[in-house]
Amino acid sequence: MSQVLVTEDGSHTIFVPELNETYHSIHGAIQESTHVYIERGLHYLVQRDQVKCIRIFELGFGTGLNAFLSAKYATDNGLLVEFESIEAFPLDQEVLLHLNYPNQIASSNYNNFFQKIHEAPWDQNNVVSSNFNLIKKHTTIQGYHTSAKFDICFFDAFAPSKQAEMWEYPILEKIASLLSTKGIFVTYCAKGQLKRDLKALGFEVESLSGPPGKLQMVRATKI
Ligand SMILES: C[S@@+](CC[C@H](N)C(=O)[O-])C[C@H]1O[C@@H](n2cnc3c(N)ncnc32)[C@H](O)[C@@H]1O
Repeated sequence: MSQVLVTEDGSHTIFVPELNETYHSIHGAIQESTHVYIERGLHYLVQRDQVKCIRIFELGFGTGLNAFLSAKYATDNGLLVEFESIEAFPLDQEVLLHLNYPNQIASSNYNNFFQKIHEAPWDQNNVVSSNFNLIKKHTTIQGYHTSAKFDICFFDAFAPSKQAEMWEYPILEKIASLLSTKGIFVTYCAKGQLKRDLKALGFEVESLSGPPGKLQMVRATKI
């Protein structure tokens, strides 16, 4: 039975006793998601390519925090974001709607985004705002099929020590096939094997400073 915890920046995360694992860093859930996926991922891509329309693929929808922060970023920067996220084991609506992310992001501009993200039906396109479209797919990565190509992948699986198969070559190869040329793969993990596999798949790999409590993270560009 999952439990809600308060992380060091005051934002919630979920603890899964069976895995002895949390959905985010205990040093700060919002801080981690912002650092890894928004600043080092989405913002980097927008600056690099000077584009106004971005297609994001996320592995592991979880609490919807990355989707929420992306919706906020899209509004703040006048972008159109198409966000597709997959989730094998959706959390209960009861738990999701009590997470404190909207209160932590103190602005009425985004008040209803979090609720809309969670009330959006699975497996269809949802207009969350004029800047943010969302498709949540209730599937595993192993069973996921699409002809779509994405500009960036938020790779947010549980840690390799908890769910090793998610970080193995066949899954990374599948992710690589979802990305367009110059597409970005970004994750909080910086394991050597991950970096070697990404290089073998034709990515240019960067080790960047991580969020608080974590020395490094990885960003990789598909060449
Ligand atoms: C680290 S958490 C994701 C955190 C999430 N991005 C957030 O902001 O809350 C990892 C997620 O991957 C999901 N997951 C586990 N196995 C999966 C699989 N085979 N395919 C897709 N999702 C999976 C888990 O249920 C969990 O929600």
